[in-house]
Amino acid sequence: MQPWLVLDTTAAHVFERWRRRFEENRHRPDPDWSLGAEIPAALAASLARFQIGEGSDGDGMIRAAARSGQAGYLAAVRLFVNEEQDHSRLLGRLLAAAGRPTITAHWSDTVFRSLRWRARLRREVMVLTVAEVCALPYYQAVRDGADDPLTREVAARILADEQEHVPFHLHCLRLEFAGLPAPVRALLTAVWWALFVPSAAVVAVNHRAALRLLRMPPTRYFSEACRLFASVNRETGNRGSILPARRL
Ligand SMILES: [Fe+2]
Ligand SMILES: [Fe+2]
Repeated sequence: MQPWLVLDTTAAHVFERWRRRFEENRHRPDPDWSLGAEIPAALAASLARFQIGEGSDGDGMIRAAARSGQAGYLAAVRLFVNEEQDHSRLLGRLLAAAGRPTITAHWSDTVFRSLRWRARLRREVMVLTVAEVCALPYYQAVRDGADDPLTREVAARILADEQEHVPFHLHCLRLEFAGLPAPVRALLTAVWWALFVPSAAVVAVNHRAALRLLRMPPTRYFSEACRLFASVNRETGNRGSILPARRL
């Protein structure tokens, strides 16, 4: 069992709140796909890459959560994984509505999966949080900058979910970091930044054509992602529970 689950007696209650939130989210209606969508080729190619990343089976995360020995956390994680897979489904339907193709693999997704290979919970959640924070300014740019209404609607829904995923992971990481000596925490923070900066830079470069279409210069995307990640880092060092109402 993870020590934080013994130390933090409110953890089960908090994760039950998260589980209920993810459960509520499952009952939302789909956008009206019959509206159809018009998506420029550069944005469609970019969304297709995000669609791959969202579609992970989450096996590693579920295994790591199962090893925590905390049934409430595992139940919340299963629903979290379902929600991520639903993002992949929504993006797939959006691309289909626009007559744009999906893809079956992309090297960036393979790299992220390999970083999480056989990871214990802390590494799993830290790597996942990097991907989540990279996604936030991207989906915000799609929501605010796409010309197509269906695209904006799908992006708004995914962004709203991602804004909750980060606090969900933060709650877990606060518990993970709480029992560590300060030098270990400092080392982990340095490694975390060393993973984040190239990841955000790769998104900025890889998706530059789409970001420009969305009137978000890649440099602004990068600085916004770094600002969010700095705030995540500060939050990880704090104590206390993070409930579903909390957003970054
Ligand atoms: Fe997602
Ligand atoms: Fe997410």
